[in-house]
Formats: sequence, structure tokens, C-alpha cells
Amino acid sequence: MTARPRDEQLSFRPMVREDLPDLHAWLQAPHVAEWWDDASETIDGVEAKYRERTEGEHPPVSPWIMEIEGRPIGFVQWYRVEDEAEWYPGVDIPPNTIALDIAIGDAAYVGQGHGRRLVLEFVHHVLRTTVPECPEVWIDPDPRNERAVRAYRAAGFHDTGIDLPDPEHPGHVRRLMTMSWAGPTFR
Ligand SMILES: CC(C)(COP(=O)(O)OP(=O)(O)OC[C@H]1O[C@@H](n2cnc3c(N)ncnc32)[C@H](O)[C@@H]1OP(=O)(O)O)[C@@H](O)C(=O)NCCC(=O)NCCS
Repeated sequence: MTARPRDEQLSFRPMVREDLPDLHAWLQAPHVAEWWDDASETIDGVEAKYRERTEGEHPPVSPWIMEIEGRPIGFVQWYRVEDEAEWYPGVDIPPNTIALDIAIGDAAYVGQGHGRRLVLEFVHHVLRTTVPECPEVWIDPDPRNERAVRAYRAAGFHDTGIDLPDPEHPGHVRRLMTMSWAGPTFR
């Protein structure tokens, strides 16, 4: 059981263009590259892909910087599952369901209980404000990514046991984990 850090202040802000060098470095970090599709992207590739997201020209995907005590340590992005439905074949998608991707890019902050707190606080403080009609939050780690699965479970995500195909990595799967809005909170 990971010790839960309680005192550090977590905050979130929309990613801006000036964050893209940090994003590129985080995606290259071995502990992220192992589980992330964009690891081989050049800085130009990352800029090309994320600049439109940071400038709101790609509204389906909204990237945010995660900070601990004001220090940027990684990013989280959300999108409406309906906008990316081809990634969820054979699954009923409740309207306004949101999916998350998350990476703590600074290795010094991994595996210390920050991930579960960051996910939960992002859901409650950013998503509930930005998408109040959202009934469910989904996340889809590679089931071999035990650290991620355990962190999301600790945050309250339910492991559906449903494995989705990974179109970019034939033979690999993504485990669907969900969290439902239950009145004043998600669970
Ligand atoms: C996934 C991620 C956000 C989780 O955040 P985190 O702060 O590392 O996770 P937490 O510390 O809250 O929880 C980690 C859990 O995994 C366990 N763990 C830690 N390191 C581990 C490892 N190398 N292998 C297996 N389990 C591990 C911890 O014991 C803890 O489980 P427990 O509470 O049941 O004991 C973070 O690790 C990360 O960004 N990783 C790199 C990118 C990535 O994998 N993104 C996910 C894509 S879906």
C-alpha cells in the first residue's frame, strides 16, 4: 500500500504552447515512453500534434498541466468518448462520458501516491466544473501497466474487465476502468 502524501498542494492549469518542451521531455522519459504512444515523437512532432490542442483548435482533446507545489510534473488530457467512439468498439457509451490520459513526467514524483490524488482532484475540481453533465469518467491503461491500474483502482475506478483493442499496437489491449457520478461525488 503506497503512503499517501497529504500536504503537497496539487493544481491544474490548461497546457499552453510554452509547456510543449516540457511535454516532449516527459514523453521521452523511459517510465512514460514504456506506456505512451508519442514517445518517439520529435519536438516538432509534439508541437504539431499538441499546438492545436493548446490553442483550442482541437476541442475533442483538452490537455492540462499538473503541478505539485507550483512545479509542473506532468499532464492530463480529457476528451469526450463519443468523439473518439472508434476507439471503444462494442461498448455502450453514456452521453457526455469523458476519458482521461495521464502521465507524471517527472520520475521523482512517480509511485508515491500522487497519481491517485491527481486523478481524483482533476475529476472533482476540473471536470465537474468544465463538464458538469459528465455521468462517467473512463480511463484505459494497458493491463500490464500494474502501477497505473493500481493507482486508478485506489482513486476509485472500477475495473470492468473489458479489454479493448489497441489500434496502434496490434496484439496489445487497453483495460476499460470506469468511475460513475453518484450524486455529490464520483464512485
Ligand atoms: C500511471 C501514473 C499516473 C500513476 O501514478 P503514481 O503516482 O505512480 O501511482 P500511485 O503512487 O498513486 O500508485 C501506484 C500503485 O502501484 C504500485 N507500484 C508502484 N510502482 C510500481 C511498479 N513499478 N510496478 C507495479 N506496481 C507499482 C504502488 O505500490 C501503488 O499501489 P498500492 O497503493 O496498491 O500499493 C504514473 O505512474 C505515471 O504517470 N506513469 C507513467 C505514464 C503512464 O503509465 N501513464 C498511464 C497511461 S494509462
